[in-house]
Amino acid sequence: MISIKTAEQIEKMREAGRVAATALDRLAQEVKPGVTTYDLDQLGKQFIEEMGAVSACHNYRAGSKSFPSYTCISVNEEIIHGIGTMKRVIKPGDIVSLDVSVVKNGFIGDNARTVMVEPVQEEVSFLVKTTQEALLKGIKQARAGNRVGDISNAVQRFVEGKGLSIVKEFVGHGVGKTMHEEPQIPNYGKPKSGPKLLPGMTIAIEPMVNLGKAGIRYADDGWTAVTADGLASAHFEHTVLITDGEPEILTLLKK
Ligand code: MF3
Ligand code: CO
Repeated sequence: MISIKTAEQIEKMREAGRVAATALDRLAQEVKPGVTTYDLDQLGKQFIEEMGAVSACHNYRAGSKSFPSYTCISVNEEIIHGIGTMKRVIKPGDIVSLDVSVVKNGFIGDNARTVMVEPVQEEVSFLVKTTQEALLKGIKQARAGNRVGDISNAVQRFVEGKGLSIVKEFVGHGVGKTMHEEPQIPNYGKPKSGPKLLPGMTIAIEPMVNLGKAGIRYADDGWTAVTADGLASAHFEHTVLITDGEPEILTLLKK
């Protein structure tokens, strides 16, 4: 069952989205040489809680594991679900993927962004820009009457057309009272396939793109997904509301 949010629930999703986007934007400004990923996670926690929200990631359960951090901080070859540690110090040339999910008044806002710490290698910068653009290509298809596969295919075609690789082990998702609802939103697939999109659905679209090969492995912490070939990976995510017209990006800050 894919939930259709009521007008009242949509208002709460807008608020959760605004909080998630604000916390992510503030956190992005703290990414600079010398800061550790542990520091960044602690700042993320602070920014989320200052707005009367809590992290949706902290203690998130997957099987017998429970996520220990408040945000996901993934550097270079780390794809997603990076756990902040005092041992990882940010340095020039790094790319840092920040994933911030919050619960505010019972609803979830979920968004992610890869930040570049200049000077970044040309090909790595291309990876980051292409991943961001791929997210926008996906969002463009997030319209009533389209199907999930239209989003998936738009992302895949764009990314692979640029010679980069789609990570297939992780997908976007419906989002609402819980972080992961139906439907799954893969970043690959066939157009006109999958569930139909209807006004009132709220979904998180989140391409994860590798510079080299698509394969992944897990780091020793059991959470952090890293590229099997050790090359860089980027991740962008927005929470989006399906409407009668244009998609509404709930995690876009109106400045
Ligand atoms: N925000 C991530 C997502 O989009 C989930 C992180 S949950 C964690 O699905 F607990 F595993 F960190
Ligand atoms: Co997500």
